[in-house]
Amino acid sequence: MTEPLLVIRDLHVAPVADRELEILQGIDLTVDAGEVHAIMGPNGSGKTTLAYALMGHPAYVITSGEVRFKGMDLLALSADKRARAGLFLAFQYPAAVPGLSVASFLRTMLNARRQGLEKDPDVDPSDPTRGGISMGDFRRLVREKMQLLKMDEAVASRYVNDGFSGGEKKRLEMLQMAILQPEMAILDETDSGLDIDALRIVAEGVNAQLRPEMGVLLITHYQRLLNYIKPDVVHVLARGRIIATGGRELALRLEDEGYAGVLREAGYEVDASDSALDARAPEPVEVGA
Ligand SMILES: Nc1ncnc2c1ncn2[C@@H]1O[C@H](COP(=O)(O)OP(=O)(O)OP(=O)(O)O)[C@@H](O)[C@H]1O
Ligand SMILES: [Mg+2]
Repeated sequence: MTEPLLVIRDLHVAPVADRELEILQGIDLTVDAGEVHAIMGPNGSGKTTLAYALMGHPAYVITSGEVRFKGMDLLALSADKRARAGLFLAFQYPAAVPGLSVASFLRTMLNARRQGLEKDPDVDPSDPTRGGISMGDFRRLVREKMQLLKMDEAVASRYVNDGFSGGEKKRLEMLQMAILQPEMAILDETDSGLDIDALRIVAEGVNAQLRPEMGVLLITHYQRLLNYIKPDVVHVLARGRIIATGGRELALRLEDEGYAGVLREAGYEVDASDSALDARAPEPVEVGA
């Protein structure tokens, strides 16, 4: 029997700066190839911490638990190896890298991925005759994926995220994903900051990339994204734990009533601040993408 794509067992995570402060207090989650799992939860519940812990962010420490990815011990790998093995994170807040052009960033990234986890010495990604991609093929690939995401080609010569609008940053994250073709994609609030047209384009871009061998963890506050990208499973992450798991109806319920009901059912006390922490979408901004 083959192992599921991603298995998270009793994962506890704290910030390196304060190991006593457990942000994640025992996460269990299994994602099979071909599945989309949505993770919803109030602000500060630990969603981004989970994404960072899986990707190997140096500011977090795994205090206990286990993560297996494609049958490997994920936590034993450096962040770089996790990415080369096919794990991808689209950041909630993508960083700007002035001085590095989008085109060279994408090419370096693709080359690293093509070399694989163990850096196959017979593959020289910069040499088209040894498993690399030629400049012409690379340009065609980028152009094709940019068209899919309705991006302006001029973006390729700009510096990574430097002076980008919120929506442009999120599209660049999706462009990276389209080029890397990860096996497990974690999308951390890729819908935030997008107007309604851009949301549709990005969601279509994600749907076009779904493959039977790929899994997705879709972190979002808003049910509306799930109208476009249909999750197989919906989880609620609150107080550092997954407190509820269900189907799409769970997301619809959160949109209706916020998190208070689900928190109470899971045995948590709900205070006034929780009523503000709901899953309801703000009015969409009807402006050009
Ligand atoms: N490096 C850190 N050091 C100290 N506290 C941290 C650190 N990273 C996260 N936290 C705290 O852990 C909690 C969870 O943060 P996290 O960013 O994971 O929440 P989130 O669910 O992604 O929230 P949002 O919906 O606002 O994006 C917050 O209270 C946050 O302040
Ligand atoms: Mg977050």
